[in-house]
Amino acid sequence: MSADLWNSAVQVLDTNWSDDHMVPSRRLYPHQWSWDAAFIAVGLAYVNPTRAWRDLRSLFEAQWPDGRVPHIVFDPRTAEDDYFPGPGFWEVPAYGGRPARGSTGLVQPPLHAVAAWEVYRRAAAHGVACAHEAGAQLAWLYPRLVAQQEYLTRRRDVSGDGLASIVHPWESGLDNSPSWDSAMAAVPADLRLLERYRRRDIENADAAHRPTDLDYSRYVGLVVNYRDAGYSDAQLAQRHDFVVECPSFNAILAAAELALAHIAAVVGADPDQHRRRAREITAAISTHLFDPRTRTFRSRDVRRRALSPARCVNGLMPLLLPDLPTGQAEAIMAEARSARFGLPERTGLPLPSYDRTAPDFDPLRYWRGPTWINVNWLLRRGMLMHGYHGEAEDLRTAMIRLVHRSGHFEYYHPDTGAGIGAPAFSWTAALCIDLLADRSVPAYARAA
Ligand code: GLC
Repeated sequence: MSADLWNSAVQVLDTNWSDDHMVPSRRLYPHQWSWDAAFIAVGLAYVNPTRAWRDLRSLFEAQWPDGRVPHIVFDPRTAEDDYFPGPGFWEVPAYGGRPARGSTGLVQPPLHAVAAWEVYRRAAAHGVACAHEAGAQLAWLYPRLVAQQEYLTRRRDVSGDGLASIVHPWESGLDNSPSWDSAMAAVPADLRLLERYRRRDIENADAAHRPTDLDYSRYVGLVVNYRDAGYSDAQLAQRHDFVVECPSFNAILAAAELALAHIAAVVGADPDQHRRRAREITAAISTHLFDPRTRTFRSRDVRRRALSPARCVNGLMPLLLPDLPTGQAEAIMAEARSARFGLPERTGLPLPSYDRTAPDFDPLRYWRGPTWINVNWLLRRGMLMHGYHGEAEDLRTAMIRLVHRSGHFEYYHPDTGAGIGAPAFSWTAALCIDLLADRSVPAYARAA
């Protein structure tokens, strides 16, 4: 099974390569996406590190002067009509020598430092020339990764509590998660906005799996508001309707600082500043995003200073952080094992994106129930970090089994494991390669 799966994953990545970047999927997502590039690099590290570096570099060449890394970098060869909202909708002006309409003005979770470190540390296995290339690429990326962190920690700390806010659900990477419902309820929904634009996503995918028109009009309205203010982050709490701190986004922000500490040591910079920032962000997550009553992490609506009532997969991601207090790590594991999420021991499948017991759990609609490989991959890393080796290995096996059985889909039905969304999806293939290669569980840990 492993060889077939490995080969099919490599083939997906070959098919989705487009000159200097990877597309998440040929039809549904015909441009470059930010956090996809990070997951993709993790897999390419084993089979084509040169492409891993190229993809990351293409993304960071589109970094804005203020440090933000756009959530989509548009491929000028793709027609405006092939993706909505396309470049003409975002109206991003020219910057840093790049032509206008080259990217969006939103961000996505900053997983790139973690990815760059993974590609670097695997480089030696490919020989001396590859190791040399990795050193040079890492040195090029380091100041840009630092600028990305500084943008998020300075301009996006709207609450002043040391956490980065997202200004749109799409910035979380978990687009229509129930985690945003309570904050989104206050965002005006103007269905007329959709009349002016044509949704391309429901032409390429089943409408029952995608966000509803009402949600979509809110998404569009939020972009219009941010765009019309020139994508400025000044006074966000006063003039923007959606300002939210996500536990997953911020856990990745802190994990990036830890990866930057490793990278700094290689490129001759100071690792301590990064370790310190990682500790500070971890402490802020632990203090402000943990609900002591239910013992779960939740997203926080900054404008109303309220935690979301929804128990979503983003609440499990702080497990990525080594300095998380033990009691909170245990609380995450209890939630992951419970009937709400059900580790593979219960279901044989990786975890769903939302609480299975919630009345609005929806096994088909995007981030409102289905199983995604990327968040399970992150969770497994967290389990290894905190010493849950047996459960991490079960999760690894469940992910591999699922992809082997159903194919490299964008996401999966959480009960049947049937593949849904885009087939031949890049991050599923890339992470599968990593899962097949990375048997970091020592034999004794399984026996214990
Ligand atoms: C969807 C996902 C997002 C991903 C994008 C491209 O919008 O929710 O996380 O980056 O597709 O794959």
